[in-house]
Amino acid sequence: MAPVSSIDPFSAEFLRDPWPRHEELREAGPVVWLERYGIWGMARYEEVHAVLLDWETFCSSAGVGLSNFRTEKPWRRPSLLLEADPPQHSRARKAINRALSPRTVRELKAEFDQSAAALATDLVGRGDVDGVRDIAEAFPLDVFPRAIGLPQGEAQAKEARAHTREALLTYGNLAFNAFGPRNELTRKAASASGPAIEWITARCERSALLPGGLAARVYECADEGLVTEEEAGLLVRSLLTAGVDTTVVALEQALRGLATHPEQWKLLHDDPSLAGPAFEESVRWGSPVQTFFRTATREVTVAGTTIKPDEKVLLFLAAANRDARRFQDPDRFDIRRKAVGHVGFGAGIHLCVGAAFARMEGEAVLAALASEAASIELAGDPVPRLNNTLCGFSSLPLRLSS
Ligand code: HEM
Repeated sequence: MAPVSSIDPFSAEFLRDPWPRHEELREAGPVVWLERYGIWGMARYEEVHAVLLDWETFCSSAGVGLSNFRTEKPWRRPSLLLEADPPQHSRARKAINRALSPRTVRELKAEFDQSAAALATDLVGRGDVDGVRDIAEAFPLDVFPRAIGLPQGEAQAKEARAHTREALLTYGNLAFNAFGPRNELTRKAASASGPAIEWITARCERSALLPGGLAARVYECADEGLVTEEEAGLLVRSLLTAGVDTTVVALEQALRGLATHPEQWKLLHDDPSLAGPAFEESVRWGSPVQTFFRTATREVTVAGTTIKPDEKVLLFLAAANRDARRFQDPDRFDIRRKAVGHVGFGAGIHLCVGAAFARMEGEAVLAALASEAASIELAGDPVPRLNNTLCGFSSLPLRLSS
C-alpha cells in the first residue's frame, strides 16, 4: 500500500513555501497517492529521474499538466514538443534542435554580455533596485525578443517594446498556471489573457517575424521539409511560451540565493567565472519549474506501487533536486557544487531545448553584476508570486553596493 497524503500541491499555502512540504512528500515514500486530485506523486530523485527517462511507460502526449488530454479538451492545441511522444516528438525535436543549434546560440553571446554589462552598470549606480522588475524581467525581456526576431516597431518603439513584454509575461503566466488544476490562479490568469493569446498567435506567423532570428530559423526547417509550415508556427509558439517566464524565475532564484548567502556572493565577486556554476546551482536549488506531469501508458509497478494505465503522475522536480539521497547537504546554496544531474531542466527526450540559451543569459547577468557589485543584500522581504508550476516572486527588493 502506497502512503496517502492529503497535501494539495496547488494550494496557496503550498505554493508560497513548497520546501517543507516537499520534504514531507519525499519522506512519505517513493510513490505517494495524492488524494485531493486522485493522482500519484513522486518527490525522490531516483523515481523522478527514472520516469523522465521512460517516455514509453510515462507519456507526455496526454498532457504534462493535471488535465488528461484523452478525456478533456486542452485549452490550446497541444505543443508538438512538450505534449508529444515519439515518433511525432522526434521529428519536431530534430527541427527545433537544428534551429537552436549550439553554434546559433553561441553567436548570441557577445550581445548578451554587452546588454548585461550595460544593465549592471546602471543598476549598481542606482543602489536600491527591485530584483524582479529591474533584473530578472528586464534582461530576458530585452534580449529574448531580439534573439527570436520579434519586431519591436519603429515609430513608437518604446510602446511597442512594452507591449511585447507584457504579452510574453501574461502568456507565460497563463501557460504555466494551466498545467495545474482550474483553481483561482488558472482562472485569474485566463481571464486576463485574451489579448496576449491573440498577440502570441499572430507572432507565430512567418510574415510577422524578422529574418535572421531564431524563429526564422524554425521556418527554414519548414523550407527544408523537416516540418510543415503550420508545424513551424507551433514550434515558434513553444519558444514564446517556454522561453521567458522560466528564465525570469531562474534569475529571481539566483538573486535570492546570492542575496541571502553573502559568502557565495563574495566567491562570485572575486571570480566572476563562477557565474555559470552559480546559475546552474540556482536552477537546482530554486527549481524555477517545480513540477511536470506524466501519464501512464500501461500498468507498471514503481517501488512496489502499481500504477494503472491512464493514471496521472506528478513529478516534483524541485523536491528531487533537493533529495539528500542524491545531493549532499541539498538545501545548502553552494555555487561551487557540481550540480550536474539535477532535473531542473528535465531529463531524457524532453530535456529543455532552451537550456543553453537560458544558461547563457544567466551567466551573462550574474557575471556582469558580480564584476560591478561588491555586495548584494535583501532590502526588504521578497514577495512570492504564486503560480501552479513556477516558483518565483512578484518583488525582490535588493541593495547593490560597488
Ligand atoms: C532556466 C530556464 C528554464 C528552465 C528551468 C526550463 C525548464 C524546462 C523543463 C523542466 C523542461 C522539461 C519538460 C518535460 O520534461 O516535460 C523544459 C522543456 C522545454 N523548454 Fe525549457 N526551461 C528553461 C528555459 C527555456 C528557454 C529559454 C526556452 C526557449 C528558448 C525553453 C524551451 C523549452 C521547450 C520548447 C521545451 C520542450 C522540449 C521537449 O519537450 O522536447 N526553455 N524546460
